[in-house]
Amino acid sequence: NSKLVIAIDGYSSCGKSTVAKDLAKLLNIIFIDSGAMYRCVTLYALNNGLISGDNIDQKGLKSALQNITISFKFDAESKTNETYLNGKLVEKEIRSLEVSNHVSSISAIGFVRKKMVELQQKMGETESIVMDGRDIGTVVFPQADLKLFMTASPEIRAERRFKEFQEKNENISFEEVLENVKKRDHIDETREESPLMKADDAVVLDNGRIGKEEQLNFIVQELKKRN
Ligand code: C5P
Repeated sequence: NSKLVIAIDGYSSCGKSTVAKDLAKLLNIIFIDSGAMYRCVTLYALNNGLISGDNIDQKGLKSALQNITISFKFDAESKTNETYLNGKLVEKEIRSLEVSNHVSSISAIGFVRKKMVELQQKMGETESIVMDGRDIGTVVFPQADLKLFMTASPEIRAERRFKEFQEKNENISFEEVLENVKKRDHIDETREESPLMKADDAVVLDNGRIGKEEQLNFIVQELKKRN
């Protein structure tokens, strides 16, 4: 049994993808950011007039899903997977505040989740994988070799996102970012369809308290325990 599946779930902006990327590099396996997939669907919906205000055209979205192809390509320069929507690189667009503001409503829709979960499970069928998201340990890979549940306070998380926006010279206030983080967490935790939840057998990692190196060491120790 050489195939390894690692599931990382947790709140928004608590450093899941940073840890997942580092871990994938260390173990030389692929990393999939499942949130990027929900963000692609949201971007497509926004670009095709399927979202107006708080309203989502569900019928339109359902048929649109058949026209959406999401893929990841490893970029040698940045050494990360970049996200493509229908063949177009969208890595930057899917991280905008507009997409962030709508993604939790889109990902609360049952038929959207069903389709994404199918795609995600396919990605983990043949290769070793680290996947991060909200329902990876509970729904996508309930048999994962290792499940991690990451946390950090909303303020720490918003601060991190805020810095990222500042680095990209985007003019967004800390309050706006904090509000988005809290709102998304609330929708993610309270939705009917696979709400954000710690799997019973997941190990908790408080990202606000320990640094990157320590987190990786911790995870490697956890993996060793299971071998
Ligand atoms: O991980 P990220 O913050 O980019 O995810 C964006 C949003 O996508 C989350 O706030 C959540 O609403 C949704 N999501 C989800 N299930 C996943 C991954 C992300 O519902 N597995």
